Amino acid sequence: MAESWLPSLITATPQEGFELAAKLARLGVKLTQPSAEIRDRLRSDYDEDTGQLIAASQVVAVHFQTVAAANNYWRD
Ligand code: HEM
Repeated sequence: MAESWLPSLITATPQEGFELAAKLARLGVKLTQPSAEIRDRLRSDYDEDTGQLIAASQVVAVHFQTVAAANNYWRD
């Protein structure tokens, strides 16, 4: 991931901000497990596991807090 893939945390809408948060969460997984083959294999470990899905949602929520703060909660 040498190329610039996160030029800005600023998004036009909260919805775009949430999508950015989900992207950050998934990129975190990709950084820690670079093998697409292994990620594909492990997908089924969590896609029907409520506890792991809630954990994944929490990671997105933490990133969303950062993105929302960076955008001044889209108040402007
Ligand atoms: C698919 C989120 C962790 C492997 C997805 C999708 C989302 C997502 C939103 C797309 C579902 C769809 O549109 O069908 C996350 C989040 C995670 C997480 C927020 C944790 C913070 C993981 C982990 C693995 C993994 C730990 C495996 C090591 C995959 C794979 C797919 C997938 C292989 C299918 C990709 C595809 O169909 O294009 N994940 N995921 N994810 N995830 Fe995760």
